[in-house]
Amino acid sequence: MTISAEITKRLDTAPVVPLVVPEDADTAIKTTRALVAGGLSVVEVVLRTPAAVECLAEVVKAVPDAIVGAGTVLSEQQAEDVVLAGAQFIVSPGLYEPVVRLAQSRDLPVFPGVATASEAQNGWNMGLRAMKFFPASLAGGPAMLKAIGSVFKDVKFMPTGGVSAANLGDYLALPNVLACGGSWLTPKAAIADGNYQVITDLAAEAVAIARNVRS
Ligand code: 3PG
Repeated sequence: MTISAEITKRLDTAPVVPLVVPEDADTAIKTTRALVAGGLSVVEVVLRTPAAVECLAEVVKAVPDAIVGAGTVLSEQQAEDVVLAGAQFIVSPGLYEPVVRLAQSRDLPVFPGVATASEAQNGWNMGLRAMKFFPASLAGGPAMLKAIGSVFKDVKFMPTGGVSAANLGDYLALPNVLACGGSWLTPKAAIADGNYQVITDLAAEAVAIARNVRS
């Protein structure tokens, strides 16, 4: 199965992609394991800390049950770095063609962020049929996704930014939502306390919400 098909299959049953902010490899690995234990096995390790790329490589090695992508990929160089580190998909906050092209040249799924019809149209013309919708809550939330869904009939979106257990169901009720992303599943305080059960419970809660909406 291609990585793209494997991601689609997993998101079909658990359409949520949690963010892992990697302060160090140990906590990033424990966070990812806790998410997998709760039923979320497609995770995004974001490049927002100095050690992020090394942490990503460690998570890929230590948690083979997870599909580990790289998020907050801003440049072509960063895209090269995360591919070398073993990233299985790439997410960017915005639409930047060199990152898209690099991922496509390696057959890696790529989800650049779009917030307007023009950006979605640009992405569509790059061959993309799945894009991140960011920052979802500020860019119009479910109402905006409904509106652009009437035009981009063959595109699925991954809303991220302001998504939480409280509004997850509203997004997942839309047929053009592939999955939701977010950091609410990996609270900093729980990680600082070493309380990974909180993360497993939040993941399980998200899976239950998704099941309820999509069954
Ligand atoms: C992202 O990069 O996808 C966002 O920072 C996630 O937004 P959130 O923290 O509101 O979930």
